[in-house]
Amino acid sequence: MTFALRPALFALHPERAHRLTIRGLAAWGAIGTPGARRFDDPMLATRVADIDFGNPLGVAAGVDKDGEAVAGLHALGFGAVEVGTLTPLPQAGNAKPRLFRLVADRGVINRMGFNNGGLDGGLARLPAKRRGVLGLNVGANKDAADRIADYVTGVGKAAAITDYVTINVSSPNTPGLRDLQHGQPLRDLLAATRAAAGTRPLFLKVAPDLTPAAIDDIARAVIDHRLDALIVGNTTVSRPPLASPARNEMGGLSGAPLAALAAERLGDFRRATGGAIPLIAAGGIDSGEEAYARIRAGASLVQLYSAMVYAGPGLPQRLLRDLAALLRRDGFASVGEAVGTG
Ligand code: FNR
Repeated sequence: MTFALRPALFALHPERAHRLTIRGLAAWGAIGTPGARRFDDPMLATRVADIDFGNPLGVAAGVDKDGEAVAGLHALGFGAVEVGTLTPLPQAGNAKPRLFRLVADRGVINRMGFNNGGLDGGLARLPAKRRGVLGLNVGANKDAADRIADYVTGVGKAAAITDYVTINVSSPNTPGLRDLQHGQPLRDLLAATRAAAGTRPLFLKVAPDLTPAAIDDIARAVIDHRLDALIVGNTTVSRPPLASPARNEMGGLSGAPLAALAAERLGDFRRATGGAIPLIAAGGIDSGEEAYARIRAGASLVQLYSAMVYAGPGLPQRLLRDLAALLRRDGFASVGEAVGTG
């Protein structure tokens, strides 16, 4: 499935196309999103981590790093928008080019490196009145002397404003960041950010590149520190077989070629957590069937990014319509009923 503007956008460098898309969504939001046709079906409403979601589909972090297009993204039909990653100080990110389409694979490789305008600017931009859930994904500056302190700053400021906060320790593009996914550094991070979040729901986003021992360790740590959900997961540094010329670019791979690995990790975390903490699936979700399969495999919510590049702005509504039909076909009255049913 493609969309009318795709050839024009694909004629541009991917980062330029993304910039124009966000500007367009921001402008649409600024004039009140005329013509928006959200797909609202009461059976898709779901409550996770004490938050009411109109539907289980969210925009993954990275689409709207600086919180410019929240109203426009909600108007496309997404039940939640996760702004960010924002770091305490503005950051330029890596040298360009740093974003690549893998068209033949329906994938993306990025090594953006947390380019963003900084936490305070992003938070100031967020709309007070919203048509859906708003999360904020926080990270650490590349040169931070104390990375955990950066997360604490982000969580503390975001908790006052957004519906949930995600601590992202899984970007492959900030050297050493993923060391915070393991052992004592992870426990120190979770203890400090849990305290900073207070009662605000706190999520952790992990990489799909984890060993079984690391998965068990993370599962135990998030339960011990009473986190509210786990996002599985970020982009992969692994390279399944790919056909596109850009396949050997450095960075994190996302989109269709990530789907199998992300689904496998979701199953791993389902087993490791035994259902003790809600899971949010991300990685190659591009259809109602794929969203439904992840929900049956244990996800309470799903998120996507790369599929929007290939399928365009009609995707959320189509995906939600198909998801509702699949739930009805199998006799479920709600999303929640289907979670983890195999
Ligand atoms: C991302 N992703 C991401 N994740 C995150 O936590 N913080 C971020 O800033 C970004 N930035 C980002 C930029 C680009 C260009 C891409 C493609 C992805 C990862 C994203 O949220 C998601 O976890 C993965 O892309 C997997 O989902 P999809 O893209 O396969 O649906």
